[in-house]
Amino acid sequence: MSFHATSFVMTHKITLLLPFLAIASILSAPAQKAGDETEQLIRENFDLAGQQYTSLLKTLADSGAAGTARCFPRTIEDGRLVSVIDTDWTSGFFPGSLWYLYEYTGDTKWRDAARDYTARLEKLKDFTGHHDLGFMLGCSYGNGHRLTRDPACRDILLQGARSLASRYNPAVGSIKSWNNPNWAFPVIIDNMMNLEFLLWAARESGDPRYREIAIRHAMTTLANHFREDGSSHHLVDYDPDTGAVLTRQTVQGYANWSPWARGQAWGLYGFTMMHRETRNPVFLAQAKKIAHFILTHSRLPDDKIPYWDFDAPDIPNAPRDASAGAIIASALLELSDYVDAATAKRCLDTARRQLLTLSSPAFRARAGENGGFILMHSTGNAPRNSEVDVPLNYADYYFLEALLRYRAKMSGRPAVPPPAP
Ligand code: GLY
Repeated sequence: MSFHATSFVMTHKITLLLPFLAIASILSAPAQKAGDETEQLIRENFDLAGQQYTSLLKTLADSGAAGTARCFPRTIEDGRLVSVIDTDWTSGFFPGSLWYLYEYTGDTKWRDAARDYTARLEKLKDFTGHHDLGFMLGCSYGNGHRLTRDPACRDILLQGARSLASRYNPAVGSIKSWNNPNWAFPVIIDNMMNLEFLLWAARESGDPRYREIAIRHAMTTLANHFREDGSSHHLVDYDPDTGAVLTRQTVQGYANWSPWARGQAWGLYGFTMMHRETRNPVFLAQAKKIAHFILTHSRLPDDKIPYWDFDAPDIPNAPRDASAGAIIASALLELSDYVDAATAKRCLDTARRQLLTLSSPAFRARAGENGGFILMHSTGNAPRNSEVDVPLNYADYYFLEALLRYRAKMSGRPAVPPPAP
């Protein structure tokens, strides 16, 4: 997600230099071809996304789910749509994808649908039951505010940021992820994805506390979640009074010592974003270390879409996680904004490969199939045998985001515009 506005307005001028332009255009023909291919890739994916999300909206309406609280599509099970309520951690991704459809097409039918499903999340502004408000409100209201500047979105977001910040404990230096008696003060790597929301709130409200919390949380995560090789633990449990680390373990990965693929993706995305927002080289160094871990891993398949865990026991027959692939692609595109040319090329080449793989029949659904979702083959929680090798709303969301970032990059703009001063 990004809260920063991007302008797609292009101006074209005819000048008296047409003959020179003609020569220049012959010389730049390969660049033109690459640009056309990029546009084609983005267009075909958004065309399909439009068809799929039209059918998802219809399924919600026809089944009656659209009129209930359980109206946010998450996945399919036995061929049937599974929808969730507002407090589910994934509730913001469906409205977020609708916003991306509006951003790409400019078609107000998508804006109206996005507004409708975003508005259904308003109560979350006072929600303090877990940490995932960055996903739930950031992807929905955050994108809505970015694209429409609606002041009502801003008020809801600022109230939501207050609710999220209420989970911060200064003795730990972190936001508590879950209220679960199995742990004293659990913090999962995914929590890095809340920080962009807080940094936005600091700028919008002028209250520096949100920024202090975000930076401190990232520093605490950097100190305690990572292994020597740059991979991260899923969960660190802290003593809430002293901030001492009690345990390091996994919940959704294969083993406490193994790198759960989506966890690595959240970390890469989160630390790259922290560099954008703070320009602190420590965060950039961490993002590069995570990228190095992922990109050089011997069990990252040639098509660059990870297995659900880099140490999953049955590789190469283990299920993949398209969601991790999409999140990594989006993060690598942003990372390429901040690194030297050789590293940027590596990030871009990998992200492109991931987008091409996800756009291929191996991962992308055919129109009218896959319950209306765009991507197949994501893995939610393999140890619980839950949502294994299925479509997931967040895979679609980060895929669309990555496509928009890729288009920006290929037209000479940063993948993510710098934050407003
Ligand atoms: N944040 C939960 C997950 O990535 O599955």
